[in-house]
Amino acid sequence: MEFLIPSRTSRPGDDPIFALNAAARARAAAGESIVNATVGALLDDDGKLAVLGGVTQTLREVPAEVGAGYAPLAGNAEFLRLVVADLLGTRPAAAMTAAVSTPGGTGALRLAIANFLEPGQSLLTSSFYWGPYKTLADESDRSLSTFRMFDAKGRLDVTDFARALHGQLEGQGRALVFLNSPCHNPTGYSFDASEWSDLVGVVESEAKRGPISLVLDVAYARYGASDLATCVDQVLRLSGKAMITFAWSASKTFTQYGLRVGALVAVTPDEAERRRVQNALSFSCRGTWSNVNSAGQSAIARILGDADLRARVDGERAVLKALLDRRVARWNELAGAAGLRYPRYDGGFFTTVFCDDPFPAALRLQEAGLFVVPQAGALRVALCSVAERDVPRLVAAIVGATRV
Ligand SMILES: Cc1ncc(COP(=O)(O)O)c(C=O)c1O
Repeated sequence: MEFLIPSRTSRPGDDPIFALNAAARARAAAGESIVNATVGALLDDDGKLAVLGGVTQTLREVPAEVGAGYAPLAGNAEFLRLVVADLLGTRPAAAMTAAVSTPGGTGALRLAIANFLEPGQSLLTSSFYWGPYKTLADESDRSLSTFRMFDAKGRLDVTDFARALHGQLEGQGRALVFLNSPCHNPTGYSFDASEWSDLVGVVESEAKRGPISLVLDVAYARYGASDLATCVDQVLRLSGKAMITFAWSASKTFTQYGLRVGALVAVTPDEAERRRVQNALSFSCRGTWSNVNSAGQSAIARILGDADLRARVDGERAVLKALLDRRVARWNELAGAAGLRYPRYDGGFFTTVFCDDPFPAALRLQEAGLFVVPQAGALRVALCSVAERDVPRLVAAIVGATRV
């Protein structure tokens, strides 16, 4: 007798990236010299998780009764106010938001799928994407479609985005678009001002055909080469024409991956619509996880709201960003000279090397003690977890493994 419903009987049991990471760690523990470029968290050059002291201290200082109590269903109001300010500053749009707390950016993505797409419909994202986008869609009985991410010049393929968005609207009468920039996972690509402008232009013209909801996945916003403001100002041009939402996350911003604190912020100038969105999102919170980590929201709110504390944490993060930026610079210097094919990479946790046979190439790398994540047409390299001194070995091995 089968108790699982048919769609659940052949779910894969483990996440491929976590499985690769476990294999790399097991070999390192057995004494081998391993370069583990699979981990999606920032490690210092000794391989230890990088933590921000100001955040750890603030978490410890959360009063016991605050941490032990339930947070409000839609989220801690002060936390949400400060997240909105973090994203939108003092722009008028900040007064036009519906917002809820979520367990990380992942929770925000999950709510967007549940509320802006019908079951059976597909969300649209770039052809390279963070694998859990599809998991989240499948889990919610939705699916995922893609547009070609890069054109022949290696720039964002806005023409294909327009084609795909048009198709979504024609085929299902609405569209939900996930865009991950800056520091796109897995490619490391950050859309530049002209790419944002072109994207916004496409959405603006397609928005007449049906409701388009945009999710700006800004999980890596603090690690980009340029300020988030470039993208925010452009996207706000769509206010009132499309539903603009942000998936905000404390995971990378405050190097608190396990805290599970994030938010979904939607911008809509129409007050009645805003109320409906707020109600729908709050209802979803109650119906999915009830409420989000109370101590986490309280601590992050204190950091965002206290100028001195915030300056301290920003300073600590700047040190980590500089560490990552040095790895990126070393990578660009060596991988560029070696002729590896990878997208423009000016900061962030990952880069992706294009190659024709990624799965055999990844196995060859593993034999040489290097772990990267193979995926269709590419190898994802997590520089966030590779010491600067290991970048030359990593580049040389990838060159060897992809030219066999
Ligand atoms: C592209 C992208 N979006 C969102 C997230 C969300 O992470 P979290 O749920 O920890 O905030 C991640 C984490 O790896 C990510 O890579």
